[in-house]
Amino acid sequence: ERNYKVTLLPGDGIGPEIMDVAVNVMRAVGAREGIKFEFTEKLLGGAALDATGVPLPDDTLAACRASHAVFLAAIGGYKWDSNPPHLKPETGILGLRAGLGVFANLRPAVVLPQLADASTLKREIAEGVDIMIIRELTGGIYFGKPRGFGVNESGHRCAYNNMVYSTPEIDRIARVGFETARKRQGPLCSVDKANILEVSQLWRERVTAIGKEEYPDVQLSHMYVDNAAMQLVRNPKQFDTIVTGNLFGDILSDISAQLTGSIGMLPSSSISESGPGLFEPVHGSAPDIAGKDKANPLAQVLSAAFLLKYGLGETKAADLIEAAVSTALDKGYRTGDLMSSGKTLVGCKKMGEILLESLETTSPVT
Ligand code: IPM
Ligand code: MN
Repeated sequence: ERNYKVTLLPGDGIGPEIMDVAVNVMRAVGAREGIKFEFTEKLLGGAALDATGVPLPDDTLAACRASHAVFLAAIGGYKWDSNPPHLKPETGILGLRAGLGVFANLRPAVVLPQLADASTLKREIAEGVDIMIIRELTGGIYFGKPRGFGVNESGHRCAYNNMVYSTPEIDRIARVGFETARKRQGPLCSVDKANILEVSQLWRERVTAIGKEEYPDVQLSHMYVDNAAMQLVRNPKQFDTIVTGNLFGDILSDISAQLTGSIGMLPSSSISESGPGLFEPVHGSAPDIAGKDKANPLAQVLSAAFLLKYGLGETKAADLIEAAVSTALDKGYRTGDLMSSGKTLVGCKKMGEILLESLETTSPVT
């Protein structure tokens, strides 16, 4: 029997509600596939701030490091928005990413056939979109030093951040990009701002070199980030795999999430060189609907599938979860964010029950 330690970080807002649904789904699929999970719940973000005074307690990071995979819901809320930087829930996430060394963040944007009308783009533009954005997650301007507030030569208050990438950092994320594109049998587009930034010139040079030396079979192109943002809404189907730095990836992944019309559907996985991966939905903690049983748990559930697939190598269990989500959508069940005429409106809990039923009736993909 396979036995996995999974650290749960429900976090803030809708986090605990959607985590509940996803964990029940994992237990059910585990029982069916002979997989045992040892779940340990820990504090992160606002919940941790309230209980311990810091957004990432030491024992949370220690538990995460000692597990096979880390399963995060969402963090943040109005309550902590005006805290100083070191006491913001978001700082807890950055510390967790750095502490786990999860340098590669995979964010898919897939327009499911059942949901093509949820996109704000015309159906013919959105239908069939299937993009994988690979965002560098532990470097760039998010972490560059020096950073801070100061006073400039004219005596004005100023603030500064520094965008830095070293060749090993670029090389390893480039390889994840090429490997992913190769598996998907599609082209790789590297996004930068090489017309302006030295850091992007080095980025482009290294990505080109890695491509030539190690992945001559993968078609590589380069695009400036401003153009990439425009192309993503003009003609998203030109993209297959995108690899880019931390800040550009943050922005482009929100754009591509909106292409699907349903950020509540998108999972993500963040992987390190050897330790446990971090799995979480792309969306945030939605404090406005927290505790109202209105949240869409599907991104969290699909993140559980990513955890199984990319974190534990349990592909069959992951496929079962994805099939159950598909079945629930086929049957017309929708949470409020995806509701349209002719569909059945359900809450978060109810969607969870429907998934458990679907799991029972879905035959395993063999
Ligand atoms: C994301 C979020 C985070 C980021 C915040 C919450 C730190 O926007 O995961 O995309 O900017 O990376
Ligand atoms: Mn973001």
